[in-house]
Amino acid sequence: MALRTIRFKEDPILRKEARRVDGFNDRIKELVEDMIETMYDAEGVGLAAPQVGVLRRVIVVDIGDGPIVLINPVIISQDGQQIGPEGCLSVPGVNEKVMRPLNVIVKYQDIEGKERSIKGNEFLARALCHEIDHLNGILFIDKIVKREKV
Ligand code: CO
Repeated sequence: MALRTIRFKEDPILRKEARRVDGFNDRIKELVEDMIETMYDAEGVGLAAPQVGVLRRVIVVDIGDGPIVLINPVIISQDGQQIGPEGCLSVPGVNEKVMRPLNVIVKYQDIEGKERSIKGNEFLARALCHEIDHLNGILFIDKIVKREKV
């Protein structure tokens, strides 16, 4: 396992669309292990492969219940909405409010390539949406909710 270098917001790779993973081989396992280690080292709650310079549809999330690895994740349903603060390891020092669905169901493949799904509510829904956005070249700073005039 090794730490990977986190890319920051000016890096054009963060604006590119990541490609699907088709081969569930040792290279992907090594990427996932490195991403988890890098996420913990940086004290993040999630990390997407483009953030370490790899344009593959791989994310890792840990909101305090242990790491979840999602390969080729797709949001298959969502409902409700929540506005809350968000940050990103690629955008250090920025913490701003973003609107997200309150509940999501995400289908994905695990590290063996097996099809799975996960329900995310509240903070997990937020984290999953944030990380999946990274796979499509979207950063949370694109979605900051401006303070409303009263
Ligand atoms: Co992020």
